[in-house]
Amino acid sequence: MIDPEYMFRDEQPGEQESLVNFASATFRADSRAELLNRLRPLVRRQFSLIAEHLGFIIGHALFVQAFLRQDQSTFLASGIGTLAVHPNYRRQGIGSRMLDIGLGRCQDASVPLVFALTEPAYYLSRGFEFASKHGYHYHHREFDTLLLVKEIIPGSLARLSGEVSFIPAP
Ligand SMILES: CC(C)(COP(=O)(O)OP(=O)(O)OC[C@H]1O[C@@H](n2cnc3c(N)ncnc32)[C@H](O)[C@@H]1OP(=O)(O)O)[C@@H](O)C(=O)NCCC(=O)NCCS
Repeated sequence: MIDPEYMFRDEQPGEQESLVNFASATFRADSRAELLNRLRPLVRRQFSLIAEHLGFIIGHALFVQAFLRQDQSTFLASGIGTLAVHPNYRRQGIGSRMLDIGLGRCQDASVPLVFALTEPAYYLSRGFEFASKHGYHYHHREFDTLLLVKEIIPGSLARLSGEVSFIPAP
């Protein structure tokens, strides 16, 4: 069971700086912190969830719009922009709880598919599949092996198709 002292809530206005610090502490020397901080202004946010303990941010999940482009059409889906838990708090179910809350919200909003572009192991253990297995490609094809998908509305994987991007068309 998750420690009842942990709180799960939406990001509040004015928390950007705390989140930048959280990303630096979480990814440490990893170049992903810099990458995430650089991409943050480019994506279209859907919602941002925070896990908190004693007033400190210990987890963050950012859900963003995903764009599924085919020929002249664009379908909207969701993407996981960030899912991260502070190293001192991992393997206690915090990541899974944030993921479940986020996927639940996607379901409530009738989002057909949720994509993630990341190291696959964790997501594969949480019910995601390789998107390429279903004919989906990332818009930079060299990253196709990192593109994962979870079907939210049954039948969507077969019904939709196209090239996935997390950045709106210019
Ligand atoms: C991936 C991450 C968010 C998981 O958070 P967490 O709170 O430790 O995850 P949970 O405690 O919910 O883990 C649940 C399960 O996933 C497993 N798991 C955790 N990290 C894993 C990994 N990297 N690969 C495979 N399985 C993993 C745990 O063993 C656990 O399994 P169980 O339920 O069978 O015991 C966290 O490790 C993290 O912040 N990693 C660095 C950032 C990152 O890589 N994020 C993903 C890309 S955006």
